[in-house]
Amino acid sequence: MEQVSQKETQILLELLEKSLATPGDVVELGCYKGDTSILFQKLLQEKAPAKKLWLYDSFAGLPQKTKEDNSAAGDQFKEGELFVTKKEVITKFKKHNLKLPIIKKNFFENLNPALDLPEKIAFAFLDGDLYTSIKTSLKLVAPKIQKNGVIVVHDYNNPELPGVSHAVDEFISQAPSSRLSLSSSPSSSLPLLPQPDLQRRESLAILHC
Ligand SMILES: C[S@@+](CC[C@H](N)C(=O)[O-])C[C@H]1O[C@@H](n2cnc3c(N)ncnc32)[C@H](O)[C@@H]1O
Repeated sequence: MEQVSQKETQILLELLEKSLATPGDVVELGCYKGDTSILFQKLLQEKAPAKKLWLYDSFAGLPQKTKEDNSAAGDQFKEGELFVTKKEVITKFKKHNLKLPIIKKNFFENLNPALDLPEKIAFAFLDGDLYTSIKTSLKLVAPKIQKNGVIVVHDYNNPELPGVSHAVDEFISQAPSSRLSLSSSPSSSLPLLPQPDLQRRESLAILHC
């Protein structure tokens, strides 16, 4: 089944292209089979070959839900669902004759920001489906996102995955606080992010930094 609609893919590619002038690499947290990732890599190879693509997934499927994710409509999103192997993603890149991205197999919660993420991020696509996954993704990515960079979160308006909007809204409301340690990053303008900078298009939340 298609994870990201064609319209959303189009928006993602437009936003990625606009972010190319911003210093930093491109990350996707929750790459699954790599269907969107290969389009990101194709665009980068054509238009910004110096930028690296970093992909993250447990390659063990979804982690456990928390209460914020509860929704009868989203009953199918169970622990271990959306399992795919890292090898499948690598094979897909090879099949499309694309340069291999950096692929980190781990739960987001176990990633080391200093070692596992790029120092600077220009564009981030967060697609971890669940409250904790999105919250962790935002915490990992926000301090590294550069001025004029963009964070796009999938499933923001998806009633099957209410944890996503919960995590994004909470993040925005807490961004100016020191709890997220955003103020420790001189390059990040996120602590000053005003609410209107969150746009919604399709099921995407777009945070302009
Ligand atoms: C909807 S899929 C991603 C779809 C993909 N972005 C695309 O465009 O085709 C969600 C992925 O997030 C991964 N995921 C969710 N929460 C995670 C976590 N906390 N740590 C690691 N991977 C996680 C799942 O394993 C799954 O592969």
